[in-house]
Amino acid sequence: LQVLLSAGTDTSALTTEWALALLLRNPTALSKTRAELDCHIGTRRLITETDLPNLPYLRSVIKEALRLHPVAALIPAHESNEDCTIEGFHVPKGVMLLVNLWAINRDPSLWDEAEEFRPERWEGGEGMKGKQGKVFFFGMGRRGCPGEGLAMRVMGLALGALIQSFELDADGVGVEVDLAEGSGGLLMPMAKPLRMFCKKREVVDQLGLGM
Ligand code: HEM
Repeated sequence: LQVLLSAGTDTSALTTEWALALLLRNPTALSKTRAELDCHIGTRRLITETDLPNLPYLRSVIKEALRLHPVAALIPAHESNEDCTIEGFHVPKGVMLLVNLWAINRDPSLWDEAEEFRPERWEGGEGMKGKQGKVFFFGMGRRGCPGEGLAMRVMGLALGALIQSFELDADGVGVEVDLAEGSGGLLMPMAKPLRMFCKKREVVDQLGLGM
C-alpha cells in the first residue's frame, strides 16, 4: 500500500501542475479545453469519470504535459536478462538500464516541433511522426506502471473540474509562468511551484458546490 501511495500521489499531482502551467502559457489551448468541457458537459454539473471518453482535447493536454515534462524523466532502473543489440549497441546481460524518457519525448526525429506544446498532435492517433513507435509515458512491459488508468482518470477529473469552475490567471500574480524544471529526487517538479489566481466562474453557482 505504501508503494502505491508514494508512486501514485506526487506523480499525478506534479503532472497536473505541469499541465496547468502549460495551459496558462497557452491561453488558446486553455480556451479550447474550457469550450470542450462546456460543450460536452454544459454548465450545470461538474465533470465525472464517464465524461472523460468524450473529452479528447482534455486528454491530449494531459498527454502533452506527460510528453514535455515527464515527472518520471528517467524510467526507474531495469536490468537486461539476456545479451541483445539495440540500434547497433551491444547490451550485455545483467547491465543496469536507465531509459531517458525526457530525451525521447523531445527527440525531433520522432516528433514534429518537439519543443512546442501542441495538444492537437494527438488528435486522431499516436502523436508521433509516422508510425515510428509507441509512447511509453508510464513505462512498458511487465514492470510498466500499474496506475496508468487511474492516473489518467484522476488527472482528467482534477484538471477538468478546475477549468470548469475557475477563471485561471497567472498574470495576476505579476510573473510569467516559469517552465524551468527542478530536481526533486526521483521525480521532476517545476523549479518554481505554480502560482495562479483562481476566480470563481459564474457557472459555479449553478453547479451547486456552495462556493
Ligand atoms: C502521472 C502519473 C504517473 C506516472 C507518470 C507514472 C510513471 C511510472 C513509471 C514511468 C513507472 C516505471 C515503469 C517501468 O519501470 O517500466 C511507474 C511504476 C509504478 N507506478 Fe506509476 N506513474 C504514475 C501514477 C501512478 C499511480 C496513480 C500509481 C498507483 C496508484 C502508480 C503506481 C506505480 C507502481 C506500483 C510502480 C512500480 C511497478 C513495478 O515496478 O512493477 N503510478 N510509474
